[in-house]
Amino acid sequence: SNATIFSMIQPTGQFHLGNYLGAVRVWKDLCDLKSSNNKNDVKLLFGAADLHAITIPKPDAKSFKKTRLEAIASLLSIGIDPKKAIIFTQSGIKQHAELHWILSTFASMGTLNRMTQWKSKAATNDLNNVKLGLFSYPVLQAADILIYKATHVPVGDDQAQHLECTRTLAGLFNNCYKTNLFPLPKTMLAPTKKILSLSNVEKKMSKSDPNQNSLIYLNDPPESIQRKIKKAVTDSITDHFNYNPIERPGLSNLINMISGVQRKSIQDVEKDFSRFNNYRDLKSYIADILIEHLREPRENFNKLVGNPDFLESVIKNGVEAASEIAEKNIQEIKKTMGF
Ligand code: ADP
Ligand code: NA
Repeated sequence: SNATIFSMIQPTGQFHLGNYLGAVRVWKDLCDLKSSNNKNDVKLLFGAADLHAITIPKPDAKSFKKTRLEAIASLLSIGIDPKKAIIFTQSGIKQHAELHWILSTFASMGTLNRMTQWKSKAATNDLNNVKLGLFSYPVLQAADILIYKATHVPVGDDQAQHLECTRTLAGLFNNCYKTNLFPLPKTMLAPTKKILSLSNVEKKMSKSDPNQNSLIYLNDPPESIQRKIKKAVTDSITDHFNYNPIERPGLSNLINMISGVQRKSIQDVEKDFSRFNNYRDLKSYIADILIEHLREPRENFNKLVGNPDFLESVIKNGVEAASEIAEKNIQEIKKTMGF
């Protein structure tokens, strides 16, 4: 097969357990698969979505540079291998923005207005304050994917609607120019359920959440993990730790986290939990699992951020490789349109 697997993550802060289970560990698994099966015909591209990162309140230039490097360090720290995947920063490849413009002439305001992420992020109908860039975020995301003619996009399920939008735009372009230029990219949903905020189960765990207690960061020190899990919202039933996302969302979120980290079924995690009869002991057990699992990534991360030149060289190589594909494709796209 000639699969091109593409995904990105916003460098807007440290990566958290939701990013890990919903996205970046899947990317690592794909790298591992590539070596063991020797699937050299599968192209892997994983990036830091730094153009998307300025659609929210803008970071200052200095810390933005730092967070971008840390994002790359995080990808490497969990075992994503730059020899197997093209690792890049979105802003290094100008064709993303070029295709964004072209696709924006296909995207209807109605479709974009129905995006639930837009609705939750804009959270206002005040047209003087919501920005065009945030509204057209899914169009840029479509451009990100289609500029590489990606066939598969591994993401968490919060991104499923955006990928639907990508397929719509690809289809509109193909129909308009009677071409099959763009493959309709498939959503590769992560096996783990969406991870929720530890302090408010109405929300997903997200980098943009200002409440740091609601997230487990991949490089959280052990004490932070202990403290945050201890504080995590649960319930007062302690005789039976069963999975019930509707009635026991806090507990079920913890079960999802452990099931994801340990790659165990929900039933097996419930079985493991059944020997506890209070949340204090259960939570300390959960924290220990997370601390142990994140030990190696945390150590790797701390080493990598001490070597910015190496990180820059990884980005430079990745940007070069991605640009080559993107330039070939944008030329084909523009030729198809008569430019
Ligand atoms: P964030 O909302 O934390 O800024 P991004 O928008 O950068 O995350 O998303 C990066 C990837 O992480 C996407 O594939 C997304 O689906 C996944 N992801 C983000 N938050 C979660 C979550 N809480 N649970 C599962 N996957 C998530
Ligand atoms: Na986000």
